Amino acid sequence: MNNFEYYAPTRVLFGRNTEAETGRLIKEQNCRKVLVHYGSGSVVRSGLLDRICKSLDAEGIPYIPLGGVVPNPRLSKVREGISLGLKEGVDFILAVGGGSVIDSAKAIGYGMADEGDVWDFYARKRTACACLPIGAVLTIAAAGSEMSNSSVITNEDGWIKRGYSSNYSRCRFAILNPQLTCTLPDYQTQSGCVDIMMHTLERYLNHGTNLKMTDGISEALLRTVIKSAKTLRDEPENYEARAEVMWASSLSHNGLTGCGTDGGDFASHQLEHELSGMFDVTHGAGLAAIWGSWARYVYKERPDRFAGLAAKVLMVPEKGSDQETALAGIEAMEDFFRSIGMPVSLRELGIESTDRQILELADNCSFGNTRTIGIVKKLGREDMAEIYRMARG
Ligand code: NZQ
Ligand code: ZN
Repeated sequence: MNNFEYYAPTRVLFGRNTEAETGRLIKEQNCRKVLVHYGSGSVVRSGLLDRICKSLDAEGIPYIPLGGVVPNPRLSKVREGISLGLKEGVDFILAVGGGSVIDSAKAIGYGMADEGDVWDFYARKRTACACLPIGAVLTIAAAGSEMSNSSVITNEDGWIKRGYSSNYSRCRFAILNPQLTCTLPDYQTQSGCVDIMMHTLERYLNHGTNLKMTDGISEALLRTVIKSAKTLRDEPENYEARAEVMWASSLSHNGLTGCGTDGGDFASHQLEHELSGMFDVTHGAGLAAIWGSWARYVYKERPDRFAGLAAKVLMVPEKGSDQETALAGIEAMEDFFRSIGMPVSLRELGIESTDRQILELADNCSFGNTRTIGIVKKLGREDMAEIYRMARG
């Protein structure tokens, strides 16, 4: 097991009706004014925004609303939030929504705490020294942003999607009421399940050894999400399955399943971010579409880890060799994706990619051939292009 630091400072309030506590939790932050940030309307339609506002009113907390965040959140909305927040004297941001809203809130928080251009952080030109405090009321179990140190923003100038990570942006609190996720369309529920699994899989498939505790937590998480995703296909209002998935969302990306590993591969994520940047697809579905091709490209580097995934998570009977078991596991994972309505190729994702687009994706992902991605196998620009080609379907 490698040395590690585990830092998960977010206070979690989990369960039915917990959003009623929002005002009380914000009151404890001693802030002057809150920016209430939300998406394209689901929280208005469900009545959640209204309940949150009542909870703030009850505590006498001033606030200003800012909606309109879209999936794959845009830099222009971040800039709007920074201007509005500065003008209104905001000193706390409440994100009511999913990963896109929380990520937009984090970026606004960085931008308000710094005089320069917020995109600099995402373009890796500077590192952040501060962020406004943020709280989250989560409405979709997926990205794990409610407990992660990351945010991912799309710059419309070139449609480039980039992530930035720092502990300054960790949410002060996260309110997790699984009931709030019952209004999700099935496609979003299942994309979320894939994303949750990927956050653990990116860490599970590594070059580490002696990881019994971390492996055990990861395998239990993966099995639980698989089972719950299947349940939710038939019973979208099943509270217990919603609850398992929501807790898994937070645990899968708060660092827990990476403790003692070599840091996580995250190549599938990097490859996918280029897809959702260029084609505006749903992140989890994009991961499902690319993962099998990535796995087939790299599994020979660590057939034992892939075979472990096959046997302990996907319940694939062991074959003659680790390589055979590993391949059967990759097929079983894709069968599972299909069973929950997720794509396993770019074509199924709705992308008919040209040769030029494949090269552009690989060029963007390799930052113009200046970086490699991945740990299981280091991938350069040509490897990336080959994986995109394999994923075409
Ligand atoms: O905008 P509204 O109207 O709210 O609709 C949203 C959106 O269309 C809808 N939705 C959310 N909760 C709902 C609901 N509809 C009905 N009922 C509800 N309760 O679902 C759609 C997707 O929402 P979004 O916030 O985009 O989903 P998700 O949480 O999957 O976030 C995706 C973003 O997070 C990034 C992704 O790249 C993507 O941009 N990620 C962020 C990470 C992080 N910060 O740590 C890590 C991840 O790997 C990921 O990259
Ligand atoms: Zn993800």
